Amino acid sequence: MCGIFGYVGMKDPVAIAIEGLKKLEYRGYDSAGIAGVKDGKIIDCKEVGKVSILESEVNNIKLQLDVSIAHTRWATHGEPSRINAHPHFDTSHSIALVHNGIIENHGELKKYIINQGITFTSETDTEVIAHLISINYEGDIVKAVQKTVPMLQGAYAIALVHKDHPDLIVAVAHESPMVIGVGVDEAFISSDSQAFAPHTREVVFLSNSEIAVVRANKLEVFNLEMKPVEKALEKLLHGSNDSSKGEFEHFTLKEIFEQPQSIKNAYATRFMQEYGTAYFEGLSDNLQELHPIERILILACGTSWHAGCVAAYMIENMARIPVQVEISSEYRYKNPIVEKNTLVIAISQSGETADTIAAVRELKAAKGAKIFSLCNVQGSTLVRESDYTIFLHAGPEIGVCSTKAFTSQIVILSLFSLQLARMRHMNREQGKDFLEELQKLPDHVKKILGNAEHIQKIAKKYAKYENFFFLGRQYMYPTSLEGALKLKEISYINAVGYPAGEMKHGPIALISSDCPTVALCANERTFKKMKSNLLEVKARKGPIIAIIEEGQEEVTEIVDDVIIIPRTIDPLSTVTTTIVTQLLAYYVALERGEEIDQPRNLAKSVTVE
Ligand code: F6R
Repeated sequence: MCGIFGYVGMKDPVAIAIEGLKKLEYRGYDSAGIAGVKDGKIIDCKEVGKVSILESEVNNIKLQLDVSIAHTRWATHGEPSRINAHPHFDTSHSIALVHNGIIENHGELKKYIINQGITFTSETDTEVIAHLISINYEGDIVKAVQKTVPMLQGAYAIALVHKDHPDLIVAVAHESPMVIGVGVDEAFISSDSQAFAPHTREVVFLSNSEIAVVRANKLEVFNLEMKPVEKALEKLLHGSNDSSKGEFEHFTLKEIFEQPQSIKNAYATRFMQEYGTAYFEGLSDNLQELHPIERILILACGTSWHAGCVAAYMIENMARIPVQVEISSEYRYKNPIVEKNTLVIAISQSGETADTIAAVRELKAAKGAKIFSLCNVQGSTLVRESDYTIFLHAGPEIGVCSTKAFTSQIVILSLFSLQLARMRHMNREQGKDFLEELQKLPDHVKKILGNAEHIQKIAKKYAKYENFFFLGRQYMYPTSLEGALKLKEISYINAVGYPAGEMKHGPIALISSDCPTVALCANERTFKKMKSNLLEVKARKGPIIAIIEEGQEEVTEIVDDVIIIPRTIDPLSTVTTTIVTQLLAYYVALERGEEIDQPRNLAKSVTVE
C-alpha cells in the first residue's frame, strides 16, 4: 500500500513533501520518510509512526533538499521500523527510492543481488529495486530504470532520485497509480492527485510500464523501448477540500454527523418524483443499456461489499433480477463464469482498492465486460477504468472506518434498484411511494443523531465486553456484518455479524452472560422470527441491546437495552440502523480510549492485493 510524493521546483521540497504526505496518510501511517539530493549527496530522514513525527524531526534537523521524494507506509514486508521505512537506497547511497505495491518475485531478485556481493539493510521487497537500478546504472539513470522494470513482477509505482541528477525525479507505474502534477516551473509526483491539488490541477496519469522523467520545467514520458510517449494534460475537477474536524473530536464522529447532508447529496438530482423513478445523468438517457440485463455481478471489499450485499436484497426484491455479490479478492481466483447480459457493478469509496481494480481489469480483459462503478473519489483508478460511474458526492471521508460513504452507497443502490424495477414491473405509484420514503431519510437520521447521548450511555455500559454478536435477518443480515466490522475496527473488540436464524446451527454455543448481542430488528418482514431468535439468546443469559423501529416496542420486555429509531421501509432500514451501530462503535472505542480516526494496522485505501 503506501503513499508516494515527490517535488522538483523552486519552493521548499521538504515542506511541500510533508504537506503532500499528510494528504496521503489514508494509504498507511505506520512509518514515513523523505529523501532527496543536496550538494551532490543523498540525504534522508525516516521515522516510525505518523507523518507528524517525521515533520517534527525534519524541522528539528532543519532538513534541506533540492529535490524530494517522500513516502508514508503500510507495512507489507517487514515490521514498521526506521530501517524498513522508505526511501530505500543502493549500497553506494547514490539512489533513494520509494515504492507502493508488492514486488512478487523479490525473493529470486534478492538471491541474484546477494550473489553480486551486495548486503541488504531492510526486510522490504522495495530494497531490491534500488540495488537493481544501481547494478544497471552506467551513467544514464533513465536507461538503468528501463533495464530494471522488466525484471520486476507484481504491482508497483516507484519514484527515485539519483545524487548525480539533482534536477529530476524518475517515476514508473505498473498496476499501481502514479500521477504527475505539472505546475509553472515546478512538478509533483504522487499516488493521488489530491496530495498536490492546492498547487496545480494540470495532471498526467502514467499508464502501465511508462517511465516519466520529471523536471521542474519539462516532463518526458517513455515506454519500455525508450520511445517517447505523447501524454495529454488532464485537468482535475474541483472537489470539496473540507478536511477539518470542525467542532468534533474526531473525523469519524464528524462524518457520522454529516450523514443527513451526505444522504441528501446522494439522491438529490437523481430522481423524478412525478414518474416515480430514478434518474442518473448519462445513463437514464441511454436506458437501452439496461434493458438486456439478465444478471448483475457486484464486486467490492469490506464495507463496500456490505453495501453490495444489501443491494442484492434490494435488486432481487424490487426488480427481480438475480444478483451475485463477490468479495473482489476471492472472485479473481474463481475462474469466473460470466454469462451474457451480465451487468458488472464495482463499488469502492476510494476507487483505489487493489483487489477490486484487479478483478475489474480481469473481467474487462477476459470477458469484455462493461463496468459500472460507484465511487466517491473523482479521478481515481477505478473511475478512470470504468465505463460509467455514479459518484457518491459524500465529500472527503477521512476517518479510516467508512461511515457516510456506506449510507450514500445504500441510497444510490436503492435508486438504481428503483430504476431497474420501474423498467420492469413496478408501477409509478409504488415508485413514488418509495421516493417519498427515501426523502424522509435525512430527517430520520437527524432524529437518531439527536439520540446520541442515550446511545453513548449504552456504549459505556457495554464497553467492557470482549465479544459481541450482531444479529439480523434479511436486510438486517448484511447490516449486522457492517455493524460488527465497525466495532472490530475501532474498538478492537471481537464482533461477529450473523444471520439471526443461523445461530441455532452452531454459534449459539458461544452465547453467555459475557457475550452481548446487538439485535437489529428493523426489518419488518422478519420481525416475528427475529423476536423468537432473541428469546433463544435470552434463554441462554445473553445480554441484548435491541435496535428497534417505532412500533416494535413489544421486544422491550425481552431485551436489556433498547434504542428506538424512526420507522422506514425494509430496503432503507439499513441506513437508519447503521447510524446507530456507527455511534455505538464510536462511543465504545471512545470509552476504551482507542485511536479512532486511524485505528492500528489499517489504512483507508488498500492499494495492495
Ligand atoms: C471499513 C472500511 C473498509 C473498506 C474497504 C474497501 O470501515 O473502510 O472495509 O470499506 O477497504 O474500500 P473501498 O470502498 O475504498 O474500496
